[in-house]
Amino acid sequence: MSSIINDIEIIKTKATKINDVDFDNLQFGSVFSDHMLVCDYKDGKWHMPKIMPYQPIALDPSAKIFHYGQSVFEGMKAYKDVNENVWLFRPYDNCKRLNISSKRLAIPELPEDYFMEGLKALLEVDKDWIPTKEGSSLYIRPFVFASGNGFHASPADAYKFIICTAPSGSYFSGEVKVLIEEKYSRSANGGVGFAKAGGNYAGQFYPTQLAKAKGYQQVIWTDDNTHEYIEEAGAMNIFVRINDTLITGPTSDRILDGITRKSIIELAASENIPVDVRKITVNEVVEAAKNGSLKEMFGAGTAAVVSPIAAFGYKDTDYDLPKLEKTYASFLKKRITDIQTNKTEDPFGWRFKV
Ligand code: PLP
Ligand code: COI
Repeated sequence: MSSIINDIEIIKTKATKINDVDFDNLQFGSVFSDHMLVCDYKDGKWHMPKIMPYQPIALDPSAKIFHYGQSVFEGMKAYKDVNENVWLFRPYDNCKRLNISSKRLAIPELPEDYFMEGLKALLEVDKDWIPTKEGSSLYIRPFVFASGNGFHASPADAYKFIICTAPSGSYFSGEVKVLIEEKYSRSANGGVGFAKAGGNYAGQFYPTQLAKAKGYQQVIWTDDNTHEYIEEAGAMNIFVRINDTLITGPTSDRILDGITRKSIIELAASENIPVDVRKITVNEVVEAAKNGSLKEMFGAGTAAVVSPIAAFGYKDTDYDLPKLEKTYASFLKKRITDIQTNKTEDPFGWRFKV
């Protein structure tokens, strides 16, 4: 297949903002690189992506994104090694998942080369924005939304695929305490929980605000039917360690098939850490916390990387996790970030050179 890379028009900014950025004190996703990639779907097809200066976009007030929430997104990171090589982590999986999400939201799927070649071209233009400080990276946000107009509650006839990037530090600041949800649900069987749909996050904000008011950073969602099973957190999949076994719930149509999650499962298995992918009950975790067999809980995701959980709340009681010297979380975090940043061999073939 011939590459589209030479067909992508590039309009460069006349005034870089890079000198305004404090690369030593980066927050998560709050300053944006100079350029963005924009690709339009109209007249029944996706048109050639363009790279242009990062800027606001004009939409008609009747654009369907505003009314019916047709939008999906991805989260990825680019890393730069000591030799200035640029790396992505399993990027084809993000492209596939974007299209899985799009299909569920009746959004036309994007050609893989528009995503991959477009992203590579964008990273080439903005490669100076990729931070090199330990723990920082260039967070990449590809997204697709309905830009077509009309109040009719049906799929739009026009869409935009955009990629923006943001030099970023860690997602959480400080210790992470989570609340196991007893009332609200993030997703349901047959719903859109497996998709990275914007509305899944909007629906979490109110219950998460309630949890934050009580001192928790994230909600751990439980199954919508019984609230007895642990599913995932707001922005990450969840692992628990009981004795020496690492356990995570199976993916389903209610849970995002996290790329970090599946990488952690493979990494742990390759390090002879016993891993169980099975349903976990809240009761089992509470009992394990009470009898001391609950050693660790952590979240796994692109933004969150591997985030240890310091405590969880359930039915008005807080359960602290033990403070161990050697944890699976820190071991696996180092293994995965060393692979991502080209500090070690990648026996899995996950790292992708841009
Ligand atoms: N679960 C949810 C709801 C998320 O938003 C994310 C973040 O992308 C994840 C899990 C982790 O997925 P991944 O590891 O692919 O980033
Ligand atoms: C990611 O980890 O990339 C995500 O998309 C999670 C998001 C809520 C920050």
